[in-house]
Amino acid sequence: MTISKRFAILAERDINKETFVEPWPEAGLIVADSPYDPQPSLRIENGQVVEMDGRPRADFDALDLFIAAHGLDLSVAEEAMSTPSLQIARMLADINVPRAEVARLVSGCTAAKLVDIMRHMSVLEMMMGMAKMRVRRTPANQAHVTNFREHPALLAADAAEAALRGFSEVETTVRVARFAPFNALAILVGTQTGHGGVLTQCSVEESLGLRIAMKGLTTYAETLSVYGTERAFVDGDDTPWSKAFLASAYASRGIKIRFTSGTGSEALMGHAEQRSMLYLEARCLLVVRGAGSQGVQNGSISCIALPESLPGGVRAVLAENLLAAMLGLECASGNDALASHSSIRKTAKLMLQFVPGTDFIFSGYSAVPKRDNLFGGGNFDAEDFDDYNVLQRDMQIDGGVRPIREEQALAIRRRAALAIQAVYCELGFPPISDEEIEAATIAHSSDDMPLRDIVPDLAAADDFLAGDKDFVAVIAALQKHGFDDIAGNILEMGRQRIAGDYLQPAAIFDKDFRVRSAINDANDYTGPGTGYRPDGDRWREMQNLPQVKPPQDFINDQLGEPIARLAELGPASGGTHQEVIVAVGPAFGTALTSTINGLAHEDVLEAILTGIASEGMLARIIKVFHTSDCAAIGYVGSHLSGSGIAIGLQSRGTAIIHKKGLAPLNNLELFPQSPSLTLESYEHMGRNAARYALGVKTTPVAVKIDNGARLRLIVKTTLLHRRETEEVRDHQLPMELRFDWEPSLP
Ligand code: 5AD
Ligand code: CA
Repeated sequence: MTISKRFAILAERDINKETFVEPWPEAGLIVADSPYDPQPSLRIENGQVVEMDGRPRADFDALDLFIAAHGLDLSVAEEAMSTPSLQIARMLADINVPRAEVARLVSGCTAAKLVDIMRHMSVLEMMMGMAKMRVRRTPANQAHVTNFREHPALLAADAAEAALRGFSEVETTVRVARFAPFNALAILVGTQTGHGGVLTQCSVEESLGLRIAMKGLTTYAETLSVYGTERAFVDGDDTPWSKAFLASAYASRGIKIRFTSGTGSEALMGHAEQRSMLYLEARCLLVVRGAGSQGVQNGSISCIALPESLPGGVRAVLAENLLAAMLGLECASGNDALASHSSIRKTAKLMLQFVPGTDFIFSGYSAVPKRDNLFGGGNFDAEDFDDYNVLQRDMQIDGGVRPIREEQALAIRRRAALAIQAVYCELGFPPISDEEIEAATIAHSSDDMPLRDIVPDLAAADDFLAGDKDFVAVIAALQKHGFDDIAGNILEMGRQRIAGDYLQPAAIFDKDFRVRSAINDANDYTGPGTGYRPDGDRWREMQNLPQVKPPQDFINDQLGEPIARLAELGPASGGTHQEVIVAVGPAFGTALTSTINGLAHEDVLEAILTGIASEGMLARIIKVFHTSDCAAIGYVGSHLSGSGIAIGLQSRGTAIIHKKGLAPLNNLELFPQSPSLTLESYEHMGRNAARYALGVKTTPVAVKIDNGARLRLIVKTTLLHRRETEEVRDHQLPMELRFDWEPSLP
């Protein structure tokens, strides 16, 4: 039972939907530095590793044998293992040590040594390390495109939009495994509609994945999973050798590959062997490198909630990303599964990869709504696109995504849906109707799609997989229906598979199918003035959010015809009788004609004068030219007022009641929140000013406090004030104004 109202509110917060657990090293529930983790050691005799991380060769398990044979560069191992871990940690954080020097040294480090290096590093230092060690100079991003209904037109439309939004790789998967060839086909056609050169994959069981790839329906494969203990590995029906063989099978057919690993999987599978998550991940990474993979998807991936339940979990996840980069592996750095209920926490976690930049900041940004994401819901989803674009713009950080316009999205989505319709028609698959095209064009989620009978779709998918038609038939179908550009892009993807350029490490396609990889776009970050920074066209594109308005638009509503019934009479003189002066700013009723919340200056004046008259007091209006400052306007007014009382009023509506004799910044009443002021407030203000002049007891005007007003209106405030200040004439004395208005007598 919560007694405190504060704690009751806190208990309701999203963060308190999460699970937090104390470490339990015996069960592998510890992210790093388990008391059971081995100490680093390496002994080499006659070119063979005879002891590694405290274990003699006789006791090696399959992973140890594989790592000892393929995962370590023995020519630097001795130097690496004898360099203090702290020194290597410092090299990672030091901008003056180039990437290659660190990479050379760590290629001789054992798993325990790698973890020992991380032990010395804060997340900030790891981010510095990542900025330098990331393989590709230009960061990129990967998207997930799936939907619950596995609707081909929606998959194609969402893939096209994802490509248009700038994702370099698009990944799909299946709810029903038999859909795999069709889902792969839909995102292939979709991506190549949105942006030629986007790589695609379909994450399914590995031999099925390979068959789909060999049909030319995918161009990369990523879920070659590895685990950090032998028992977990065997549970996945694999050995390091079988994974290496599979990787070669893909590569031999021109398909880019990347392995998958990540903290938490071994504990989840019950085979952590008392080791910490990071130690086991370091073993995975040495296996990945030993197997010849150019890269890895890590960062806990599907297991992310497990390290996040433990202390230091988010830090350990960055550490595993950094270890991948240190080993020269292209890193797709997670952020692909729901890591938190709390938007504060999930964004904070993202920053660790977003700020330094990784090869793929997300190894699957959910480019579809969470419910449609068959990977279990992304950490960022389609609903977060605008937020993400703003983060890029705020920090001038390239997160691999670009803002798009609604009309662009609609056009590309329709075209992709039409293209997949043509392919289905030509290949004899169950037809896609025009109604489905229209729905896919405007859909947010699969809830917006008409129902489709999946039984014939599945039968057709089976036949397609079993038959000998492949992507060439798709190209022919597209061309026959006039989609020459999409056909051309898919053909080019096929041609690139033969050329094999995108088998270079960390390769993605630039526009115009230019490969950008660790070979021709190697990361050269060594501190300020080096490395990748978004500039030029890319930076302009990142700034160009549809929500951004030209400054002038903020004050257009405040401009108007000068108020005809407000006339300048001549220099204002000092008053000699009881009166309230209303002193207005230099733009009032001329350059500007309404307040920030759209009250016409005429109406505001009427309200104030009504209030003054209701107390039987006389009023005079003067215009101040030498200042636009609210306090100064009121101050001048009070000195010209016969009673010593004046209301100072800026054109945007900010007001003050001032009394002669008080210091300029000390006043009777201040109304700084002009957006909250109504005509009633101004009338009340007039009445109060009159009562001060009469010397009777007065309760200050109660005004609404709106905490969001400044946030909402600060640009408008700035520009209105600037416009008023433009009207300032330094040497012009206050002017007496005449306002054609008669108080309506009650
Ligand atoms: N370790 C290894 N493989 C993982 N996958 C996800 N998370 C991990 C991890 N921590 C793989 C699994 C899953 C796919 C999406 O990625 O194979 O099915
Ligand atoms: Ca992925």
